[in-house]
Amino acid sequence: MILFLAFDFTNFIGRFHPILVHLPIGFLLLAIFMEWYERIVKRKQLSFLISFAWLLSGIGGALAALCGWWLGETGLYLENDLFWHRWLGILIVLLSFGGWLLKKKPTEYSGVFHYVFNVLVLSLILFEGHLGGNLTHGQDYLLQYAPRSIKNIFQKEDTLQRIDLIGKDSILVYHDLIEPSFAKKCFACHNAEVKRGGLNMEHPDSLMVGGESGPVLVSGNTLESEIFKRITLSQKNTKFMPPVGESMTYSEIQLLDWWINNGADFAISLKDAKLDESVKSLLLRTYGIDTTPKPWYETVKIEPADSSIIKDVSSMGFVIKRLGFTNNLLDVKFEGKDLSDEKLQSLSEISEHVTWLSFAKSNISDRGLKYVAEFKNLTRLQLERTDISDEGIEPLSVLEHLETINLYETSVSEKCLGYLTQIPSLKRVYLWRTNLNIEKTGLFNEEHPHLEIIF
Ligand code: HEC
Repeated sequence: MILFLAFDFTNFIGRFHPILVHLPIGFLLLAIFMEWYERIVKRKQLSFLISFAWLLSGIGGALAALCGWWLGETGLYLENDLFWHRWLGILIVLLSFGGWLLKKKPTEYSGVFHYVFNVLVLSLILFEGHLGGNLTHGQDYLLQYAPRSIKNIFQKEDTLQRIDLIGKDSILVYHDLIEPSFAKKCFACHNAEVKRGGLNMEHPDSLMVGGESGPVLVSGNTLESEIFKRITLSQKNTKFMPPVGESMTYSEIQLLDWWINNGADFAISLKDAKLDESVKSLLLRTYGIDTTPKPWYETVKIEPADSSIIKDVSSMGFVIKRLGFTNNLLDVKFEGKDLSDEKLQSLSEISEHVTWLSFAKSNISDRGLKYVAEFKNLTRLQLERTDISDEGIEPLSVLEHLETINLYETSVSEKCLGYLTQIPSLKRVYLWRTNLNIEKTGLFNEEHPHLEIIF
């Protein structure tokens, strides 16, 4: 109870600081400008009101500083900024009393000395006011609406974390995505030394311990987590966090919400986390992280195929294209009716490079498919309108990256599905106009929801 009263008293008195602080500044400006005016018009003797204004400024400044001291004690300001604002303020108060004594006997020191003293105090006031503005409104306040060229000189561009994240294999949800926002917006007041509200957010362990009012993170329950409540209150609420500086953005809040609700696991990586659609789009929008799994052919790193072999194979009737400027895998097509073992053997020399292969409408046979079973990076195989049967499909079950196979208008039956389901990566099978019983495949679809059968 006593603590509570003490805290509120501090806050109550503290809030008079902004009101009180302007009065002594006014007196100081008045004193300095009066003196300059009188010196310009060459008054014989400076008015005693000048030293009186310095005195008033000293007294007013002392009161403002006292309230300011209390305001600083609320812990709602950034410790580093506060230090300079505080001690510079006290220095100005001392200089004001000094000015009072100095201006009482204006002839004791040279005009130049008075001039330098006045300019010094004036500059200190300007700088002190700026520090005060930063404390209340954040570092970016002054130049928020300045032209870009000026901003570039004084402010560092906020480089999004996305730069570090690109190319990283394993992204840790807490360490890579959530902690950097906390570091930027909360650590200044919640670290091992400055533990506002008894809370140290710098380490997962101390974060789990919580603050004066107990744990702030309830795993699996966002609404019970004090940390989440504090960042989602109205900004006018005195309990809103952070009390100064940049608030948490909508995306940061959404990500934290999802992470806490999913168990607040500090070690979980994006790969292992269960991501729903809204989190996926948030990750892409805010952090530039694409969570859709890449097709196999985009992940294979391989040297380009030997160009002389490609030339030979092309001359046999194969149409060969590279998948892309940066991808050395190949898209190969053969449409003629003169496919032979010899031609297939030649193609086998670049088997690792072939990822899309089409024998549609060709004379490929069940026996010929034995060569194809060696094409370990194959992801798409087109065999439509050929004479192949279930027997030819059997050896293909070792193709562990095959995603699509087109068997439209061939003589395969249900039996081929038994072979094809052994391929873990297979997603689509085209089976229109085959010997398959459509009714049976209905049941098959239910048993294998990840394999789409298309008629
Ligand atoms: C400028 C200093 C400052 C910053 C920055 C700041 N806080 Fe605080 N925080 C405080 C003070 C002071 C208290 C204690 C008074 C209170 O409970 O409101 C506190 C208390 C808390 C508490 C309650 C602890 C307890 O157990 O009572 C939580 C939770 C909290 N802050 C979270 C945050 C989060 C999250 C951020 C960053 C988004 C943040 N704070 C940024 C100053 C700050």
